[in-house]
Order: sequence, then C-alpha cells, then structure tokens
Amino acid sequence: MIKTLFYDNEAVMILDQSQLPDKVEYLRCKTIDDVAEAIKKLKVRGAPLIGVTAAFGLAMAIADYQGEPAELENYFEQARVKLASTRPTAVNLFWALERMEKVFKQESVTEANREQVGERLKQEAIRMYEEDIAINRAMGEYGQELLPEGSQVMTICNAGALATCGYGTALGVIRAAANRGKIDKVWACETRPVLQGARLTVWELMQDKIPVTLISDNMAAYVMQLEQVNAVIAGADRIAANGDTANKIGTYALAVLAAYHRIPFYIAAPLSTLDFKSASGSDIPVEQRPPEEIREYRGLYFTVPEVDVFNPAFDITPHHLITGIITEKGVFKPPYEIAFKKMDQD
Ligand code: MRU
Repeated sequence: MIKTLFYDNEAVMILDQSQLPDKVEYLRCKTIDDVAEAIKKLKVRGAPLIGVTAAFGLAMAIADYQGEPAELENYFEQARVKLASTRPTAVNLFWALERMEKVFKQESVTEANREQVGERLKQEAIRMYEEDIAINRAMGEYGQELLPEGSQVMTICNAGALATCGYGTALGVIRAAANRGKIDKVWACETRPVLQGARLTVWELMQDKIPVTLISDNMAAYVMQLEQVNAVIAGADRIAANGDTANKIGTYALAVLAAYHRIPFYIAAPLSTLDFKSASGSDIPVEQRPPEEIREYRGLYFTVPEVDVFNPAFDITPHHLITGIITEKGVFKPPYEIAFKKMDQD
C-alpha cells in the first residue's frame, strides 16, 4: 500500500497527488504554510487524509516552535485557523483539528513541559493515522457484504487509499469485495474538473490488479441503461444529521441516475464524517474552487480564457436517494436521523 503521508520529525512528507499518475513524488512540507498550501492546491486531498495531514502539520509546528512558552497558545491558534481555512466542506479537517486542540489544552505549556506537549501532539496524529486504516478495513468488511458475486461497481472521484491513510472508504469496500473474488469490474467516472477518477482511482486500482474501466462522467447513464452496474459506491466529505451527503461534484447526478435505474447507491465514510451540527444538506458549506480548474488542464485551455465559470467542488445528495451509509460500525439504513441518534446513544 503506497504511503500517502509520513512525518520524518522535520517535515510532513506528502505524496503529491497533483503529479499522479505521471510521477510518484513526495512534497516536503516544513512549515504550516507549506501544509496549508498543499491542502488548498489538492496536492493532498480526500476528507480523511486532509484531517490527518493537518494534525501532523500542527504537531510539526509545535515541535519546531522557538518562541516564548507564554506565546505558544497564540501560535497554536494561528496555525489551527490557517489549516481550518483551507477546505471548508471536508468536516474531517475540523474534526481532526478539534481533536488536536483537546490534546494541546490538556495542561498549560511551560518551558519545562514544552517538549512533552509537542510529543503528545505527534502521538495523537500517529494514533489518528493508524485508526484511519483500521476504520477503513472495518468499513470494507461491512460494505463487501452488500455486493453479490460478479459485481460491477460504479464510483466517482477517488475515495481510496490515496484519499485516506490507507485502504480507502468506497475503494476499501471494493478492495474487500475484490479480495473475495466478487468484483468483475469497477466503472471509474473520470471526475471533471481535476480528474481524481481518471488519474487516481484508475492508478490505484490498477496497482492492485482490480479490473477497472474508465468512463467520462457523461457516460454513466448509458452504462447503467446497459444494465452493467450492480451498485454505486461513493465517499463523503460531510454527512448531515438527516443523511444528506456532500461529496465530489457529480455524486448527486449518479444518485439520481441510480434511483431511476433501480441500482443501490451507497456512501462509505468513517463516523468522523458525520456532522450533527448540520441538520440537513443546506447547512453544509460547499467549497467553490478557482475557475482555472474548469478552463484549463495543466496549462492547456479548453475554452475562451475569459469565460465566466461556476466551479463548486462538491454537491449534496439528498438522503432519500441513499440506499445505505457504510461505516466502521456497520451499514446504516434510512431513516438516517433515527439510526444516527440510536448509534450516538449506544
Ligand atoms: O476534492 P477532493 O479530491 O478532496 O474530493 C474528495 C472526495 O470527494 C472524496 O470522495 C471524499 O473526500 C471522501 S475520500 C475517502
């Protein structure tokens, strides 16, 4: 399994996903600004991985701090705010930052305990990293039970090992099913505009020898009409309390198409993607990305360079289009509001 991220005690090392599949290169992030920039520019992406990357960023910033202990709290807060401003929809980012903040605030920092505080933050980030892989494996086991032998599964974007600390969410389910010989084919939607499907999902599945066929996003309806799809599985950036789900732009279109063709549509995501503060999808902030992502690809313009552009990174799939939400605690079925509440009380 390729490492998406590691910390070498001097820098957060990030697999630069903007270069894939052409180059496998790691980016050395030595400062909080480097980490924030890498997240913003999608060099590291995928909600769970963004969260853990930010956690390592904070651990590194505190370990490197040279100023007065009395100023450390301010410094921590500035770093936290910088990281929190990178990608507004991925709730795992805020979940991870909150978790680090709790560890940081366990006791006040003095000259004597500064190193221990840094070490505690590093250990927390390592714990998150390891937990993420274990969670994805558990999710994979629950999810694969939903797939019959000979399955053809459609997916969008990349919710794989590359979007997490390893194994993946939607692709984790596919991986677990493939390990049992149940996968005949994965239909990977290319995922305009940044092509996470074409560049990342295809690369990741081919590395693992899981059969994958690439389609452009506008072919999904036709492939479903040909009765070539047993299930659609996508990841999530944020799931509201009623089950409405934000995920890569194009996910909603697949959910509508799946409902029309009577194909089960699943979301696979860790519980850290649930956001009970958002009652429904309309409370979820949708990230708007730079227009250049639509106008050009790696410097090549597809259009008149001055054209007006709309570029939301995500859309919201209403809960009534989602057949089940696969998590590390099992598969939730509608009504999600009630299922989530029950889980919270258990
Ligand atoms: O813009 P991206 O590439 O970060 O979008 C990623 C997705 O939409 C994923 O499906 C989601 O973050 C889940 S990743 C396990």
